[in-house]
Amino acid sequence: MHFLVTGGAGYVGSHIVRTLLRQGHTTVILDDFSTGHRWATQGQEVVEVDLKDLPALRAALAGREFHGIFHFAAKSLVGESDEEALLYYQNNVDGTSNLLRVALENGWHRCVFSSTAAVYGNPVTATIDEDHPKAPINVYGETKLAMENLLEGVCNSKSFGAVCLRYFNAAGAADDASIGEAHTPETHLIPRALKAAAGNGGDLTIFGDDYPTADGTCIRDYIHVEDLADAHSKAMDYLQQHSGFVALNLGTGSGFSVKSVVNACEKVVNRAIPHTVGPRRSGDPDSLIADASKAKKLLGWRPKRTDLHTIVASAWAWEQVRPVIDTDGG
Ligand SMILES: NC(=O)c1ccc[n+]([C@@H]2O[C@H](COP(=O)([O-])OP(=O)(O)OC[C@H]3O[C@@H](n4cnc5c(N)ncnc54)[C@H](O)[C@@H]3O)[C@@H](O)[C@H]2O)c1
Repeated sequence: MHFLVTGGAGYVGSHIVRTLLRQGHTTVILDDFSTGHRWATQGQEVVEVDLKDLPALRAALAGREFHGIFHFAAKSLVGESDEEALLYYQNNVDGTSNLLRVALENGWHRCVFSSTAAVYGNPVTATIDEDHPKAPINVYGETKLAMENLLEGVCNSKSFGAVCLRYFNAAGAADDASIGEAHTPETHLIPRALKAAAGNGGDLTIFGDDYPTADGTCIRDYIHVEDLADAHSKAMDYLQQHSGFVALNLGTGSGFSVKSVVNACEKVVNRAIPHTVGPRRSGDPDSLIADASKAKKLLGWRPKRTDLHTIVASAWAWEQVRPVIDTDGG
């Protein structure tokens, strides 16, 4: 089959492209390279266009046929989103609206969408299932919920199918370390810890050690990017048989504290990682752990790389080759 992958030059999108290619599918990557990388496009055709530009989007995609869309393109820095609300709404929500308009005009009616645990806001239960209240506490989460709502509206009014996959914390890299996480700035804990270990990227701060958790640091659910890729592929398979809207959590169901992640990183790199403990960041819930039973039931999906050591080792393998790959400036 032939798929459109928006944001396919980014971290998660490039891993889904890789999985689709391995399965014998073909892809077209749509990206504006605002945060994506040329080296991550893996020889695929690239349509370089900004989703915000409807005429350019229409022109670039006119007459093409796709069996479905994987929609990753978005801005996703929580802090930046609160400072640049308009930019985030325009990029994420208007961009998605344009994409859906062009999809309907061309008769493409399946979309697997990258959503996030940020749509839930502060958890009111120990594990979060899809019925948990949706009350985002930052603009990023608000835009992702608005994007979901747009998709649901289109599913309700047109013949359209959408699966929204709400990831918890994506982590790790391709099994052969050919691609991996490369955000600037990098805000995610595992790459930050590994960069600090490698001396490649400054300091590591633990934001708060006075949370009501066993070691005082926040607990998160880390899901390996290859397991995310597998879920996306299964979600698109599901849409070949079903229309309508569904939202599914993707996580392992296990929570790891910030300190235990830093310890796991130290074991993998076999040295102490210099770090400091700073004050809490605003808007960081104590604990975010997925209940992903619905995805398991509906898609027949099971995460395979659930062990923290495996996740960190995969990220470390990538971190060691990345400085060589990441030199094209893109
Ligand atoms: N990484 C995570 O832990 C995580 C967790 C939950 C959800 N998500 C979601 O997954 C998706 C991918 O995240 P990522 O970590 O791979 O981010 P990323 O920044 O690496 O990738 C996003 C890609 O989208 C492109 N893009 C952004 N705006 C665009 C626009 N207007 N037009 C065209 N292309 C545009 C960027 O250039 C980039 O290639 C995002 O939607 C994000 O919200 C990520």
